[in-house]
Amino acid sequence: MNREKRNKNKFEKNILCIGGGYVGGSTMAVIAQKCPQYKVTVVDINPNRINQWNSDNLPIYEPGLDKIVHSIRGKNLFFSTDIEKGIKDAEIIFVSVNTPTKTFGAGAGMAADLQYWEKTARQIRDAAESNKIIVDKGTLPVKTALAMERILTATDNDIHFDVISNPEFLAEGTAISDLTNPDRVLIGSRETPSGIKARNEVVDIYKNWVPEDRIITSDIWSTELSKLTANAFLAQRISSINAMSALCEKTDANVNEIAHAIGMDHRIGDKFLNASVGFGGSCFQKDILNLVYLCRHYGLDEVANYWQSIVRINDYQKDRFIFNMLHTMFNTLVDKKICLFGFAFKADTGDTRESPAIYISKKLLEEKAELIITDPRALENAKIDLNDTDGKIRYIEDPYKASTDCDAIAVMTEWDIYTKLDYEKIYQSMSKPAFIFDGRDILDHKKLFEIGFNVFPIGKPKLSHFKDK
Ligand SMILES: NC(=O)c1ccc[n+]([C@@H]2O[C@H](COP(=O)([O-])OP(=O)(O)OC[C@H]3O[C@@H](n4cnc5c(N)ncnc54)[C@H](O)[C@@H]3O)[C@@H](O)[C@H]2O)c1
Repeated sequence: MNREKRNKNKFEKNILCIGGGYVGGSTMAVIAQKCPQYKVTVVDINPNRINQWNSDNLPIYEPGLDKIVHSIRGKNLFFSTDIEKGIKDAEIIFVSVNTPTKTFGAGAGMAADLQYWEKTARQIRDAAESNKIIVDKGTLPVKTALAMERILTATDNDIHFDVISNPEFLAEGTAISDLTNPDRVLIGSRETPSGIKARNEVVDIYKNWVPEDRIITSDIWSTELSKLTANAFLAQRISSINAMSALCEKTDANVNEIAHAIGMDHRIGDKFLNASVGFGGSCFQKDILNLVYLCRHYGLDEVANYWQSIVRINDYQKDRFIFNMLHTMFNTLVDKKICLFGFAFKADTGDTRESPAIYISKKLLEEKAELIITDPRALENAKIDLNDTDGKIRYIEDPYKASTDCDAIAVMTEWDIYTKLDYEKIYQSMSKPAFIFDGRDILDHKKLFEIGFNVFPIGKPKLSHFKDK
């Protein structure tokens, strides 16, 4: 018996995940850690990604992920580019490929681009030699599971597939704690005997560490739509508090005081009420646009307009931020040196997808400002996002060096390190008058003002040394 075969027999189940990105990589690492009795393999079409997963330098940064991967890689967690073999060997296949917003043809700019997902469905169908449970882990339009079923059954072989929806609710930056201690796990299936049996098999995986009362089972369409709804509600809270921040700036009210006051109402709750330059990330905007597209498809224009307004407020918030910088800095940014503190779309991740910093950077460059970008984890992604061929951008990891000689600092990401810097030292090294635009409201504004900065928070009165204040 060869080694591979012995390994295969050693495990109770063979689990495969197609797509080794933020969700596939983190989710499978936690499943493998919590279930040493299963063999978990992650495959990806991108060989670089797989090489990175097999190296000391993982392709994504998530607190706690390195430790898990390094402790179980090669034991019951494997990363490979051999998708066909992975499909053949697995009884349960998670699909976690990217589903970005479509950029071409019908639904461009709104609908989900399902090309990667569809290719995966065909790959599974063509390589499978035995019955399988297919688990959609991505965020997909409602009724996608039906399309998956249709693709999988469009052959005359006798293989039976059950399609399960198990959307992932993790948030980047806290993925490992979200996965090890989830608020809930949602698993949806067809309400047929075979569908329910398959659903229970997926429940059995999570039961290894998630309390049963946090594992919800449901019908497949409600499950698919729950994920889009969750992201729409989360983004809506951010746009709601950001809309109030605009009004606060006009009325000398303080959005943080308001968030505190309303957050104590248990019907509202205190989470996700931080005003900011706007939300980013690979999911919120794409999922809301996808929801808007679905509503329009079903003729629900009023509902579509309601959800679309959340993205509009988010765009408005970013534009307001730029306008404020321009207006405050004497209506010209030409040749001004602006240091962006942070580029990741949120703290504790290197992910920059849809980060407000991308939009802000592009607008600042349009105004002919010079940009200096600092971030502890996201500089490589920032270089790719901005693709600066004119040499107008410098990337410097040390925030002290990055802000030296600058006219302004704009806080883009709520990294904790930015709250602990010596701003006296930073102020001394900057060009005067020195400005701080705190796009995350994380700094001690009063202290910064006392040091000498002109301080412009979000949704709070500005602290300016100019006489016209
Ligand atoms: N990132 C998040 O925070 C998050 C959270 C919850 C849900 N989701 C959803 O999960 C899904 C995956 O998101 P992600 O952020 O992990 O994406 P990602 O872009 O980080 O990773 C997707 C991976 O799939 C691979 N891939 C694409 N087509 C493939 C194919 N045919 N065969 C093998 N590999 C293939 C890509 O190379 C890539 O590595 C999306 O639907 C997303 O909306 C994401």
